[in-house]
Amino acid sequence: MMSRMERNERRGCPAPVTIGLFTLIAFGVWLLVGLGPAVADEEEKKEEEKKEFAADKGPDSIDVKGYPAKIRSMYKTFASKCSRCHTLARPINTDMSAGAWMRYVKRMMNKPDSGISPKLGKQIYQFLKFHQAKKDEKKKAKEEKSE
Ligand code: HEC
Repeated sequence: MMSRMERNERRGCPAPVTIGLFTLIAFGVWLLVGLGPAVADEEEKKEEEKKEFAADKGPDSIDVKGYPAKIRSMYKTFASKCSRCHTLARPINTDMSAGAWMRYVKRMMNKPDSGISPKLGKQIYQFLKFHQAKKDEKKKAKEEKSE
């Protein structure tokens, strides 16, 4: 009796192992060609996100110990509401004028499903205004020292 493989070889057919290997290589090449651009796209997207929000990597809390009690309670609102869609570090490490903060809080408030009512938005804005003024004071003092 002849085995099937021997019969195949006699007829000049490639052995099943060779066929299997060829299929595997072809599949590999197809995968590489097909996935290459997709992987590159993903990387590019990640790069963009990194560039845009470097602020996300900074500190993600504020030491409000020295702030008045009213401001400290507003900080709690800010910390819970403004960390829902992105890190709290994003607003913390962003500097804006008071006017720009007002516009920005409104913009965030108006995003679908923000969970921020106008009343809470106002508190958050007041906290940000206060904290920004403190940051500006510190920056100014530092600049005067180095002069
Ligand atoms: C409903 C989701 C959501 C909530 C809640 C939210 N944000 Fe945002 N925030 C975003 C998105 C999305 C972006 C990026 C695109 C944009 O700027 O609209 C963003 C970006 C930002 C930026 C980056 C601005 C820049 O261009 O560097 C700041 C600062 C910011 N948010 C502050 C806040 C503050 C303060 C609050 C709380 C009042 C808040 N966010 C709440 C979705 C949200």
